[in-house]
Amino acid sequence: MDYTTIAQWLNEARNIVILTGAGMSTESGIPDFRSTEGRWRNIDPLTVATTDAYAMNYDVFHDFYCARIAALDGVTPHIGHEIIAKWQRTRQAFIATQNVDRLHQLAGAAQVADLHGTIRTVRCGRCEQEAALQAFIEKETCTCGGTLRPNVVLFGERLPAGAWDTTMQSIQKADLVVVIGTSLRVYPVNQLPTMTNGKCIYINLQCEDDVAASYTFDAILTGKAGDILQGIDQALQLK
Ligand code: APR
Repeated sequence: MDYTTIAQWLNEARNIVILTGAGMSTESGIPDFRSTEGRWRNIDPLTVATTDAYAMNYDVFHDFYCARIAALDGVTPHIGHEIIAKWQRTRQAFIATQNVDRLHQLAGAAQVADLHGTIRTVRCGRCEQEAALQAFIEKETCTCGGTLRPNVVLFGERLPAGAWDTTMQSIQKADLVVVIGTSLRVYPVNQLPTMTNGKCIYINLQCEDDVAASYTFDAILTGKAGDILQGIDQALQLK
């Protein structure tokens, strides 16, 4: 599939949804989860990213998320984030992400559905009161006595209703869905590409056989998100 065709689909589309995963942030220096260098290659997510880990293994939970928060220092969006923010401004693209780094927003995207929350803000796990990030890092407890946690969706938790509902509505209206940098392994986000009647493009370093067999992609572009998004955006300039 060439970039000119994709550019044409973008120009013809009236309701575009862009759905991203951790592969959208690797070019900004944030590891993904399931690649060979991914985060879950060395850590069992069930020991750190679950409500049980939060409730019963707070020290390990706290260390894991403090390390991820610290790893965001100095991290900036890359050209791919900037192009997606531009497509939101110029084509009213709806952006939904599984990423918790808020790099889409830092690149200038106005509304982003953070489907898995964010690690840039924290709250008390008992009274739900928002708290200062530094208080979490310094392991302070809430005035109610509860412990603090990032506003990230832990395995087994429901996704934020607002983010999920607006994404579902956008997907059902969409005539073009662009899925970028996700293995499509995690429910329920991995159901979203099946819920659109529009065209669906998959941009990923690779397309696993079972993924290709499970979805009806109109185009599969394998390679780095930043490179591919630049190629498509250049083709748009020529239109
Ligand atoms: N360009 C394109 N694709 C990339 C790039 C890149 N620069 N870097 C990595 N990828 C691809 C990987 O090949 C992989 O298929 O992105 C995909 C990332 O998949 P995962 O690591 O599984 O991340 P994701 O799909 O976002 O995981 C979903 O799982 O652990 C939970 O909450 C976590 O939000 C996360 C969810």
